[in-house]
Amino acid sequence: MVKICCIGAGYVGGPTMAVIAIKCPAIEVVVVDISKPRIDAWNSDTLPIYEPGLDDVVKACRGKNLFFSTDVEKHVAEADIIFVSVNTPTKTRGLGAGKAADLTYWESAARMIADVSKSDKIVVEKSTVPVKTAEAIEKILTHNSKGINYQILSNPEFLAEGTAIEDLFKPDRVLIGGRETPGGQKAVQALKEVYAHWVPEANIITTNLWSAELSKLAANAFLAQRISSVNAMSALCEATGANVSEVSYAIGKDSRIGPKFLNASVGFGGSCFQKDILNLVYICECNGLPEVANYWKQVIKINDYQKSRFVNRVVSSMFNTVSGKKIAVLGFAFKKDTGDTRETPAIDVCKGLVGDKAQVSIYDPQVTEEQIQRDLAMNKVSVVWDAYEACKGAHGVCILTEWDEFKKLDYQKIFDNMQKPAFVFDGRNVVDAEKLREMGFIVYSIGKPL
Ligand code: NAD
Ligand code: UGA
Repeated sequence: MVKICCIGAGYVGGPTMAVIAIKCPAIEVVVVDISKPRIDAWNSDTLPIYEPGLDDVVKACRGKNLFFSTDVEKHVAEADIIFVSVNTPTKTRGLGAGKAADLTYWESAARMIADVSKSDKIVVEKSTVPVKTAEAIEKILTHNSKGINYQILSNPEFLAEGTAIEDLFKPDRVLIGGRETPGGQKAVQALKEVYAHWVPEANIITTNLWSAELSKLAANAFLAQRISSVNAMSALCEATGANVSEVSYAIGKDSRIGPKFLNASVGFGGSCFQKDILNLVYICECNGLPEVANYWKQVIKINDYQKSRFVNRVVSSMFNTVSGKKIAVLGFAFKKDTGDTRETPAIDVCKGLVGDKAQVSIYDPQVTEEQIQRDLAMNKVSVVWDAYEACKGAHGVCILTEWDEFKKLDYQKIFDNMQKPAFVFDGRNVVDAEKLREMGFIVYSIGKPL
């Protein structure tokens, strides 16, 4: 029987291992983490992350073949396959600060594996890492190997938050990169057999290590580039009277372009797009490719532009000042169906509004007040647990997350309780702007005529 251990019980480690456990009842899966509160939450009725469908999967196999533990060393020592799914944030100090990936957590996990292992191991890079990381990991492991054979595989994760379980049950593809040696190929085969329990063989792609590592960065860069491209168009739409939704629909009908991921917005957020593009930019610079680096940098610049453009539009349309005015913010998570606020555009927008002395009142169905206050440290805002309460007495409403419930709100009730003129700034194009205008609202959508 194969034993799997996953180091890192976060947004990736938890859901991915839960799905492996439910699809492979004969495999024992243990998810370990140095954070005791996180592991306690995974073992409780209130999981540490909100993800539709996750509770059912965890409940179905926890205590049977899925376990969560802080006893990192014991479970690493016992495992045949070790997934490493620790965080790889952007470095904040030293060489490459602000761009390069911080591999401190990864390196400490690799050193610990080397210290405690007594049998051969397949070590799987699940975290998103710079291309060539496997070479460094191999060095750390083999320099301390005590005769143990290590095979490093790259198996990047493509799930998106909010749809993680769906994505894991039916992945577009699973990517496995390994050494082109007999040992490397045997390891690739072993991991392939795990996924083959539920993923059709045609959807399991195998490549060399560096292609797999780079494909993850490339995929996120391409996805983010689509959003920055459509957001750049949204600015031009506002200036010309074109409608960005119509433009997206028209171009998306071209099968070479495709309809997905073309929604103009207040900007992309989330823990990975910006970090992974910065990482890609750094790798290009280190490889003497400044033109390529500058090309990708532009994706982030447009995203920053889109966020500040949104704030400027709110302030300028409300007679050039929001000082002392109440602004309701609906939605704080970086996208719907998650409580995650990492790099959410709401942080920049709220800071911008508070910077102009607005009184900001925030409502999000999944993000706690404690989290919002932490994200907006030093910026005074109020957090309420009801959309109507947030909008009561407000001069303007900013919709920053596309939660389904914001489409169904009673906007007449909201309008009746607001200061007039009542403004709506729809950063996600979720409301029916025409209907709201009929009620008396002044509505600004992204990339649409007034
Ligand atoms: P996360 O911060 O939610 O989880 C990482 C966990 O690793 C934390 O709980 C932390 O305590 C733990 N950890 C760190 N060092 C450890 C160590 N030495 N031993 C044991 N545990 C340790 O991060 P995440 O969002 O799950 O992302 C993990 C990786 O996956 C990142 O590289 C990210 O880029 C990548 N990724 C994330 C997503 C996503 O949707 N969040 C999707 C695809 C890929
Ligand atoms: C993204 C990728 O979609 C995943 O494939 C990848 O595994 C993951 O990053 C990662 O590496 O962490 P995620 O950030 O969870 O997933 O969510 P997305 O659905 O990609 O949304 C990212 C941001 O882009 C959100 O703020 C979202 O609102 C925004 N977005 C998305 C748009 O503004 N317009 C769109 O058309 C799509």
